[in-house]
Amino acid sequence: MRKKVTVVGAGNVGATTAQRLVDKGLADVVLIDILEGIPQGKGLDLLESGPIGSYDCHVAGTNDYKDTANSDLVVITAGLARKPGMSRDDLLKTNFEIVKSVTEQAAKYSPNSILIVVSNPLDAMVQTAYKVSGFSKNKVMGMAGILDCARMAAFIAMELKVSVENISCFVLGGHGDSMVPLPRYSTVSGIPITELMPKDKIDAIVKRTQGGGAEIVSLLKTGSAYYAPSGAIVEMIEAIFHDKKKILPCAALLEGEYGINGLFVGVPAKLGARGVEEIVQIKLTPEEDAALKKSAAAVKELVGIIGV
Ligand SMILES: NC(=O)c1ccc[n+]([C@@H]2O[C@H](COP(=O)([O-])OP(=O)(O)OC[C@H]3O[C@@H](n4cnc5c(N)ncnc54)[C@H](O)[C@@H]3O)[C@@H](O)[C@H]2O)c1
Repeated sequence: MRKKVTVVGAGNVGATTAQRLVDKGLADVVLIDILEGIPQGKGLDLLESGPIGSYDCHVAGTNDYKDTANSDLVVITAGLARKPGMSRDDLLKTNFEIVKSVTEQAAKYSPNSILIVVSNPLDAMVQTAYKVSGFSKNKVMGMAGILDCARMAAFIAMELKVSVENISCFVLGGHGDSMVPLPRYSTVSGIPITELMPKDKIDAIVKRTQGGGAEIVSLLKTGSAYYAPSGAIVEMIEAIFHDKKKILPCAALLEGEYGINGLFVGVPAKLGARGVEEIVQIKLTPEEDAALKKSAAAVKELVGIIGV
């Protein structure tokens, strides 16, 4: 039987995620939103694309959580996106209420599902979904690191004029301005970029990666990125459904790893059928460690404000 994925929020990220899922034939999809007609319309449009895209996956849009029952995986994209001049943290209180209520509903109807949270501010929203759902820690995770790494890889490919397929990047920490791209562990065909580029070029790429989301927001003016984010979500789902044991950077609950306790922060995690199956720990230099702790402190502050 095909897997069932519920995508909460039928906006830019949610609808594009649904499209990528069915294009790959990965799952039947239920799109749910508070707006009446939008998930139904987008769902029907995607269903009608099946004969052209040659997929048999079923897609349905709804406003009723009963239709989401027994999903294998739920992606939470509901909430406000940034506008120019806003930080992800400016979304905190509104998106907290939204993520809290949608998690309650989704968890009630799909108690055995895996949750991938996307709404911002990412790390605090994953913490919210974890607390509200009562799910075990391996079944709740956030998408951000794959996106941040993809942005960094795209910038490196442009700079060095090499294939993106040669590049593997590493970004740790919260999905905010204090995220920690690690050039030492970012490689082109196994060669660290520190061997291939001068420091000023690397510093510029690190800075552009940290501001990658804001760069898109300032261009779009009415919303934030969704093509790369939805691609990143689907990479996580593929790793889980195909039990790939793929090491991907995700927001996962740390219980002492990297010296951080009780917080969701972006780290390399092994994704397989059970969700987050392992957190991979690497040695950090004192500077890298300090940057990660600073990023975690920023997440802790947000989590403190909403009290989760
Ligand atoms: N983690 C990441 O890397 C990342 C990347 C991109 C976007 N985001 C975040 O994802 C979220 C969605 O972004 P978007 O571009 O799709 O925004 P969008 O405005 O296009 O879509 C959001 C959708 O959520 C719906 N919604 C609001 N309240 C809801 C509720 N209670 N129940 C169900 N649906 C509800 C809205 O009606 C809307 O259709 C934002 O918070 C954005 O900041 C995160």
